[in-house]
Amino acid sequence: MDAIRQHVRVTFSFPVCFTTGVFDPGNRLLRDLIADTDDPKPASLVCVIDAGVAAAHPSLVAQVDAYCAAHADVLHLAADALIVPGGEAAKNDPAILASIHERIHAAALCRHSYVVAVGGGAVLDVAGYAAATAHRGIRLIRVPTTVLSQDDSGVGVKNGVNGFGTKNYFGTFAPPTAVINDVAFLTTLEDRDWLGGLSEAVKVALVKDAAFFADLERDAARLVARDPEAMRAVVRRSALLHATHISNGGDPFELGTSRPLDFGHWAAHRLEQLTHHALRHGEAVAIGLALDCTYSYLTGTLAEQDWRRVLDLLIALRLPIYTPELGRHLDPPDHPASVLRGLAEFREHLGGRLTILLLRSIGDAFDAHDIETEGMIRGIEVLQQIAAAGSTSVIGPRLQVAASIRGSS
Ligand SMILES: NC(=O)c1ccc[n+]([C@@H]2O[C@H](COP(=O)([O-])OP(=O)(O)OC[C@H]3O[C@@H](n4cnc5c(N)ncnc54)[C@H](O)[C@@H]3O)[C@@H](O)[C@H]2O)c1
Ligand SMILES: [Zn+2]
Repeated sequence: MDAIRQHVRVTFSFPVCFTTGVFDPGNRLLRDLIADTDDPKPASLVCVIDAGVAAAHPSLVAQVDAYCAAHADVLHLAADALIVPGGEAAKNDPAILASIHERIHAAALCRHSYVVAVGGGAVLDVAGYAAATAHRGIRLIRVPTTVLSQDDSGVGVKNGVNGFGTKNYFGTFAPPTAVINDVAFLTTLEDRDWLGGLSEAVKVALVKDAAFFADLERDAARLVARDPEAMRAVVRRSALLHATHISNGGDPFELGTSRPLDFGHWAAHRLEQLTHHALRHGEAVAIGLALDCTYSYLTGTLAEQDWRRVLDLLIALRLPIYTPELGRHLDPPDHPASVLRGLAEFREHLGGRLTILLLRSIGDAFDAHDIETEGMIRGIEVLQQIAAAGSTSVIGPRLQVAASIRGSS
């Protein structure tokens, strides 16, 4: 074979910072992050802002202007801030992606310039994708403004938009230059977004850190009561666990099929589609976690006591564990509106071999490749009963639930 063997080694390093009042002119964090690079100064930047954030923080655009003016030796605001719709609409409408590319182009940004994206996970995903694809990559600083984007999505290396009815069909792996988590943004979230992002913290605790899970149990009431200190601690720990997995997990760009951080996500992504995004990502993840933990219990890998703790925590955090779309059209499992089609979609997304994470105990997960649809259907029935009763106590001791599945598998 006549071949030139290429070895391309690239190392990425970026900080995930925690602050309050990021655009307060007296706060030097953003300025220093940009001044830290070796480029000629001042650096050009364009700000992309989630409309939901702009509405909840009416002086934000003026603050960004004042911040750049105060630090004009380092920062050059190359265009007016671009306000884009928040939520999943940002990833569904190609016109929004185009508007960000247009603003980047009009502002004549180059590969040494910055897109500063301020918003929830959806706006960060589309702005990140626009930045990664203009000039093959403009520097990105993420300022996540939801619990979910601060404790999970914003600290990662992925971005993307939806296409062909599929979540994140288009996207790139493109690490940001920096992430700035400003806890002050969280105060204006609707309750469902404040709580919804906690599902990703529960997820990473289940997969990686039993002690964190116990802390979430201990602090559930404070979190529901919107205690900022309790939330700050959860966001930081979850962000650290996510970031550590990405840098030390051995597969930052997801070339393999094992996806610990996607625990519960095969059903979650499907439910987002089936509900036409009426269910938010974090809410859908809570249901997906409830389902895969219940399946783990029913098929005998997860102890009953641990299973009840998981469901009890999700309920205590006021997260959903069931939605009617979960229970519809389960037979045949490939019905176009069946959640079970999510298994096939996930297999395709992974590239051939189905790999679903299941739980052995809280903090200890493993990859499974054979999933019994009957077990999933049984799990869905169990979740429906628990959701209707609002408590796991409606389900009797282990064998009553587990017998039929164990007998049939
Ligand atoms: N790239 C990744 O690795 C990754 C990981 C997980 C999730 N995601 C994506 O993240 C998205 C979900 O993100 P999300 O949960 O942050 O929700 P979101 O981005 O859909 O935002 C939810 C709502 O909150 C509003 N909002 C945002 N910040 C606000 C604030 N501070 N005050 C008031 N309102 C505010 C938004 O305008 C929107 O209406 C999904 O598209 C999901 O696929 C991406
Ligand atoms: Zn997620």
